[in-house]
Formats: sequence, C-alpha cells, structure tokens
Amino acid sequence: MIRVCISGLGKTGKEIAKVLMEQQDIKLVSAICSPNSDKKGRDLGEVTGSSSTGIIIESSDNLEQVIFRTRPDVVVDFSSPEAALKNAKVFSRMKVNIIIGTTGFSKIGLKKLLVLATKHRNAIVYAPNITLGVNVLMLLANLASNILNSYDFQITEIHHKHKKDAPSGTAKKIAVEIEKGIKASGNLSENIEIPITAVRAGGVVGKHEVMIIGDDDKIEISHESFSRKAFALGALQAVRFAKGKVGYFEMSDVLNLKKVLGDYLENENSSFKERYTVFLNKKELQIL
Ligand SMILES: NC(=O)c1ccc[n+]([C@@H]2O[C@H](COP(=O)([O-])OP(=O)(O)OC[C@H]3O[C@@H](n4cnc5c(N)ncnc54)[C@H](OP(=O)(O)O)[C@@H]3O)[C@@H](O)[C@H]2O)c1
Repeated sequence: MIRVCISGLGKTGKEIAKVLMEQQDIKLVSAICSPNSDKKGRDLGEVTGSSSTGIIIESSDNLEQVIFRTRPDVVVDFSSPEAALKNAKVFSRMKVNIIIGTTGFSKIGLKKLLVLATKHRNAIVYAPNITLGVNVLMLLANLASNILNSYDFQITEIHHKHKKDAPSGTAKKIAVEIEKGIKASGNLSENIEIPITAVRAGGVVGKHEVMIIGDDDKIEISHESFSRKAFALGALQAVRFAKGKVGYFEMSDVLNLKKVLGDYLENENSSFKERYTVFLNKKELQIL
C-alpha cells in the first residue's frame, strides 16, 4: 500500500485526489491547503464533491506535524511554485518522496529542487508535463527534429484563461526536446530558438501543438487533454514509480522511455537480420 498526501487542492489537485481515492494499492492519508484557505478543517470529500473521507484538510503551516502523524510515502503537489518549493524543503527533510506537477518555477527554483533531492536523498519527480500523451508528443518531436533538422518548428499552446504562467512549462520542455533533436543531428548552432505562441482563453484544459514545416510538406503533432483526469492518470503512474526511489526524476523516467527506445532498436536489428536470412539460403549467404 502506498501512503499518499496531496498538497494543493485547486482545479487539478481535487481531480487527482478523487482518482487516488479509487485505487486499491493507494491510501490517501492527508491533504494540505494554503494557510488562509477556506478548505482548512473541511473533509476532503466535501471539497472534492465526493462522499465523506475522514481526511480533514490541514494548512501548510502545520506541515511537519501532518507528515509526522500521517506518514505518507509520497506527496503529490499541484499548488504554486512558491508554496511547492517551501513545502518541498519540509517534505525532503522528512524523507518523503514528492511528485511536483506545479509549473512556473524559475531556473534557480528548479535547481533548488535538484539540490533538495541530492541533499536529503529522497525522490523528487519534477513533472511539469504529467499527462502521459504529452510525453509521447515530446518524444515524437525530439525524433522528428533529428530527422527533419532543416525544417521550421513552431509550438502553439492553448490553456484556460486562469492559467498563470505563459508559455506553459510543457511548451518550454517541448522546445528543449526539439533543440536537443536538432543538435543530435549534428547542427551545433548556438542560436536555435523554437518560437512558442501561448493563448489563454475560455476553459481549455490544455492543448499543445508542434508544427514542422518544410518547403514542400508539413507535419503536425498535437495533444489535447479533454479533462483533468488526464493529469490524474499521469500522477498515478508517477506515485507508483516514486515509492522507494532516491534521486531526481522526470516523466521520461516514470515512462521508462530509455527502455522503450532500446527495445525498438533491438527489434529493428533483429528484423534487419531476418530480412537476409528469409531471402537468402545458407549457400547463398556463404557466396556473398
Ligand atoms: N504538470 C502538469 O501537467 C499540470 C497540469 C495542470 C496544472 N499544472 C500546474 O499545477 C499548478 C496548480 O494548477 P491548478 O490549475 O490546480 O491551480 P489552482 O486551481 O489555482 O490550484 C492551486 C491550489 O494551490 C493551493 N495552495 C496555495 N498555496 C498553498 C500551500 N502553501 N500549500 C498547499 N496548497 C496551496 C491553493 O488552494 P488554497 O489556497 O485553497 O489552499 C489552490 O487551490 C499550477 O502551477 C499549474 O500550472 C500542471
């Protein structure tokens, strides 16, 4: 059984709490809100719109006591960058592993997370792009930019009008993946910059689109979350991954992408060998 605490009960945190509560192998043990929140002292079920849970929401002012009393293995954080960093110091000191879905960290803020995981030897999974599908988009964008390195790349992201950071952490990460792909193809130019257009409008949960445009053709890779449940499913996989781990991780580790690509290459190698053995018999192979 994995004991989980949820920190940040906004639009995303509430959705994740509901999905966590449905799992057989997970026990939600505590829930954290901001110091002045009207959620403080209320039952988690009341706030998420489900039946009573017996979990009383507590303020981040009492973080140490909450952790000491409820002993979570993993915390899932969807709050704000300031709150996430402040709370991560306490979680790390108390050797609790953390999934950080919160976005909008400064470069120095991200470095601090890395330092925390190294210093306290807990696990921090930094997942500004927790949706499983968006991680597949990043992988595809990386591979496409390696192969089509002379094409123009353009990212567009659309989110609801209440989203605070723009461009999204995911769009920035997609840009990094494209830059990595172009560099891996041998283009070592210093000033590769992938333009990002951010749109904040209506109630769009989240859409990311990569356009890859050449002189004669165009490829589009796009991902859209239909509901916040897409975030919850990614968070769930990250929680299961983080239990018992030590170190600083990203969603590519959670999804084991190195193995996926390794398996792909291995299969390609064996089908390459097969191609020759199917068409040529032993004698013909010896002659060649
Ligand atoms: N990784 C991804 O794929 C992904 C997906 C969606 C969203 N996000 C990110 O996740 C974060 C939250 O998004 P959202 O849409 O859920 O925003 P939101 O609705 O504004 O929720 C943020 C919540 O954090 C709580 N909070 C503030 N200070 C806190 C503290 N000290 N301790 C605990 N909770 C605190 C606030 O609630 P109270 O004041 O009531 O406690 C608020 O409800 C954002 O950074 C967003 O960009 C990431």
